[in-house]
Amino acid sequence: MSSQRVQPKLIIHGGAGSSLKGKGGVEVVRRSLHKVLEEIYPLLLAGATAQEAVVKGCQLLEDDPRFNAGTGSVLQSDGQIRMSASLMNGPAQRFSGVINVSRVQNPIRLAHALQESADRVLSDYGAMELLRELELPPYNPMTDIRLQEWMHERSENFEKEMAGVIAEKELVEDSAGRGTIGVVALDDQGRLAVGTSTGGKGFERIGRVSDSAMPAGNYATADAAISCTGIGEDIIDECLAARIVIRVTDGLSLHQAFERTFKEAHRNQRDLGAIGLDATGAIAWGKTSEVLLAAYHTGEKIGDTLEWQGEQLVASIPAPIDL
Ligand code: GLY
Repeated sequence: MSSQRVQPKLIIHGGAGSSLKGKGGVEVVRRSLHKVLEEIYPLLLAGATAQEAVVKGCQLLEDDPRFNAGTGSVLQSDGQIRMSASLMNGPAQRFSGVINVSRVQNPIRLAHALQESADRVLSDYGAMELLRELELPPYNPMTDIRLQEWMHERSENFEKEMAGVIAEKELVEDSAGRGTIGVVALDDQGRLAVGTSTGGKGFERIGRVSDSAMPAGNYATADAAISCTGIGEDIIDECLAARIVIRVTDGLSLHQAFERTFKEAHRNQRDLGAIGLDATGAIAWGKTSEVLLAAYHTGEKIGDTLEWQGEQLVASIPAPIDL
């Protein structure tokens, strides 16, 4: 790792899915995402590590009831919320996470606490024990909108296979989506980290495990870091995050790695999206779904992918050229 300071980079997502049809759709989501960038990017400028920025960014997104993670998580088939989150430190190449945890405000805090532990991925019962050890207060992440969504689906006998990508005041019949949140950061020392957190697909059977607490959905090395969103089963089948990162490690540029991986995912008719950074400061994103709710901070400007539609699978912003 170089001791030279680099320009920090930040990219975040709030899920992927079908179009934002709700009232105020794009603008409301844009405000939510940009607010997080505006709060986290200055921390990176002030010397926060990539891991610190990722944990804080995930907490803010988990606390926004619009997104399907933490507060505002979707309900499973039995009417319960079970959340999953993971954190990966790039230079240490160390993954930690929790699977199907309930009654916690910020699942990412549990994943963070496990970074230094010998046992780094805990599921339901063990994660609850950790919650007690950390003395985090019990918290109910359920919102009225998500409860209404579940009750509506129950009256329809759970015909829909998953919940809406974002929580919307009025239930939208075709808002099926794949909400999750994710944060990828490059700090001023050139270190990468990534975190991903989700309430799952919504209406799934008890015990179903999300990609968000697996290296398929959240993976980083010293070279690249990727967070995924979309249908967990599709992400797992493509091993999406790890696949992109390994391609970068093997010599492809971040853009090339996204391009090759999304071409394959498209051919396999997957429904997913991903965001990523590499250690040179390149930023990239890709989707096979209709929309990807992502926003980024290059150091010079904030941008987002909310109105990015059409056939194009991948887009990127190259690393700055050293003069
Ligand atoms: N990608 C979130 C999930 O399927 O659980």
